[in-house]
Amino acid sequence: MATDQHTTTATDRPRPGVGGGHEPVGQEQLWQRAQAAGAATAVAHPNIALIKYWGKRDEQLVLPAADSLSMTLDVFATTTTVRLAPGAPGDRVLLGGAEASGPSAARVVAFLDLVRAASAVPHPAIVDSRNTVPTGAGLASSASGFAALAVAAAAAYALAADTRGLSRLARRGSGSACRSLFGGFAQWHAALDAGDDSGADAASFAEPVPAAPTLDPALVVAVVDAGPKAVSSREAMRRTVATSPLYRPWVASSGQDLAQMRAALAAGDLPAVGEIAERNALGMHATMLAARPAVRYLAPASLRVLDAVTQLRDGGVAAYATMDAGPNVKVLCERSQAGAVAARLREAVPDASVVVARPGPGACLVAGDGR
Ligand code: PMV
Repeated sequence: MATDQHTTTATDRPRPGVGGGHEPVGQEQLWQRAQAAGAATAVAHPNIALIKYWGKRDEQLVLPAADSLSMTLDVFATTTTVRLAPGAPGDRVLLGGAEASGPSAARVVAFLDLVRAASAVPHPAIVDSRNTVPTGAGLASSASGFAALAVAAAAAYALAADTRGLSRLARRGSGSACRSLFGGFAQWHAALDAGDDSGADAASFAEPVPAAPTLDPALVVAVVDAGPKAVSSREAMRRTVATSPLYRPWVASSGQDLAQMRAALAAGDLPAVGEIAERNALGMHATMLAARPAVRYLAPASLRVLDAVTQLRDGGVAAYATMDAGPNVKVLCERSQAGAVAARLREAVPDASVVVARPGPGACLVAGDGR
């Protein structure tokens, strides 16, 4: 199981990172209250990878082929309540207020099974999760969703997990979710040298990455299509790993990108951070385009955003694009230039909704039902 069984202290509870948003004081009290009540509400934000996670080496344990590194956002939060329901015939899953069934509900139930296996509490639960981000459109809703679920479920089921244990637990729900436990920048360790399955399971978690205090980035998100994607990231990764001749070379170069990214963050060098992130993302999309059959997430509107980013750079604005498993494009720039970048993207794609995000906080418990 993905969680350490040891006594926790106030200092190793998950707590909000940079960017404000939630009150750090009282986390320990909230954990105690949740355990007594068998109910907890957690808030988590999506993260956008600057060095991508693309491909698993172990599907069941969700162990990645390579390390990845992300920035947690201060927008598009997910709020999730988990309430134990002793005596109920099974789990109930509400997504956006509506009863969920099919694969999305099954994924939540499978995750609760993991939590129950690690806890002394066998009861079913009611999960009520609300996103402020379109689900399944490559906007990292699974990252915020499973990070919030991991924290709320661990608290409701009285699991003795510290933040690292919660990161490992969230990983089992959706790989990228392990990074949303932390605010600001976080690196997810692939733990390639950790030996057997249980060693790798224990060693594969995310950790905060230091950045120079002078670094003041924004991520301008151009939502060109909020509909769900045709191919899930899970299936697209599987196909890429199995069939793309570009996959292994990209994994190798991604390791170099990650080392350079850490140095660029530490130096507060935004143009270097952006250049590395853009090439890493374009490389990831190249691996999918070379898969058989190809997976293509980028749409004509995505390319218009990419052209606008190139023009911004030609005009002297340090702006860099990154894209995930969907057509939406996120543009990294200095915070002071986010307004100008957003205006240019709106001009390029008038139908897009453009949102300016900044580094946001890590997942944490909130009082009441968080609304
Ligand atoms: O966590 P998943 O299975 O939804 O994978 C997400 C993968 C990317 O968003 C494309 C990249 C990343 O590192 O977040």
